[in-house]
Amino acid sequence: MKKLWSGRFKEKTADIVEQYTESISFDNRLWKYDIEGSIAHAKMLAKQSIIPKKDADKIIKGLKEIYTEIAGGRFKFRQELEDIHMNIESALIEKIGEVGGRLHTARSRNDQVALDIRLYLRDEIKEITSLLKNLETAFAEIAEKDLGVIMPGYTHLQRAQPVLLSQHLMAYAQMFERDRMRFVDALKRINILPLGSCALAGTTFPTDRKYVAELLKFDAVSENSMDSVSDRDFALEFLSCASIFMMHISRLAEELILWSSEEFSFIELPDAFTTGSSIMPQKKNPDVAELMRGKTGRVYGSLISLLTTMKGLPLAYNRDMQEDKEPVFDTADTVKLTLNALVQMFPKIKFNTKRMKDTADAAFSTATDIAEYLVRKGVPFRTAHEITGKIVRYCIDKNKKLSDLSTPEYKSFSNVIGNDIYKFIGTAESVNAKKSYGGTSPSTVKEQIKRFRKGLK
Ligand code: ARG
Repeated sequence: MKKLWSGRFKEKTADIVEQYTESISFDNRLWKYDIEGSIAHAKMLAKQSIIPKKDADKIIKGLKEIYTEIAGGRFKFRQELEDIHMNIESALIEKIGEVGGRLHTARSRNDQVALDIRLYLRDEIKEITSLLKNLETAFAEIAEKDLGVIMPGYTHLQRAQPVLLSQHLMAYAQMFERDRMRFVDALKRINILPLGSCALAGTTFPTDRKYVAELLKFDAVSENSMDSVSDRDFALEFLSCASIFMMHISRLAEELILWSSEEFSFIELPDAFTTGSSIMPQKKNPDVAELMRGKTGRVYGSLISLLTTMKGLPLAYNRDMQEDKEPVFDTADTVKLTLNALVQMFPKIKFNTKRMKDTADAAFSTATDIAEYLVRKGVPFRTAHEITGKIVRYCIDKNKKLSDLSTPEYKSFSNVIGNDIYKFIGTAESVNAKKSYGGTSPSTVKEQIKRFRKGLK
């Protein structure tokens, strides 16, 4: 098939060059956006009398037919036609004749490809943010339902202070809400029309870019033709939002893996979301969570890949930029797949609430509450910390729990300690008392969930 740019060439392109430079094998998925953009462009060309109205009508009809052919799987993508833009344009010319060649007036593939990726990302982000919303709702629902469950909270992966399971879950809900907001915000910079910038310098034709922006529902028209065709910030921003999101997913996955271990036994993962071992019959492996953690690597890789591709490029368009698409596609796919898996798996996780509570009770996790008790009785915090440390040391030496100590034993550490100390050393009392804004008491967590759900609306 004849190449659309073959005019100035004497020799045929080498096969290896066709193989090396093609992008149709992966950019074919932009077909819908490419046609959508071309239809808007043809309408504008006719409105501005840059091409005759009847030619534009033929072009649009032809493009719509191609749309149906591709949607029906009846279109043959050709490697020798390099990319999606030239595959569709060639098919159009083949279909309606030379008049199809008028479509490429006042545009270039450089602004066309930038347009297609922006349209694609706009749709992907809409899907991703709606999936994120479902996930956040699921977390808030579980947090609300399991409001009373106490578990150990950790720092340094050492038991630190008792917390509510709901507080732990809502921590992730807060991360996911920030992720969602980041994607929504990126949309502002994605939803800007680059088409009409042409190769790099704009055009001599009296185009109406605002009209194209309206047709394609863009919020604005890009300001600088050179920037428009050489900018991939919007794709990098998408990858960076996705990377931060996957980092959150990976932390959650790590906890699910730890919590489902025999050692923690905090949760049981649903059978349908785990796999067995081919050699060890007793095993139930948390593969889904492991792959969530694992796939985070490829998303980070995509961000670094495109950042690296872009870093040395002189203005304006360079063919290197064709390498933008695979990392972006792979990331969108990975993020959606991960969200779908998590939304389905998470509500089916069984929390071993007794084990969580027992583990919280077994630790000296209310030691800080004793220190705060002493502070309320007038002891400076540093001294209170020291005294409490000695109490814990004593318990360890005597193999006792904080609740096993008698009042005289407590008094031997500080005579400000009275009988009321026992009201502060239980994990439930400790959690109930954490009523500071954003704290882990049931009433404050409930308020948090309420505000959270309101924000989701
Ligand atoms: N396939 C190309 C890409 O993805 C389209 C733009 C080609 N432009 C050019 N001047 N060769 O970047």
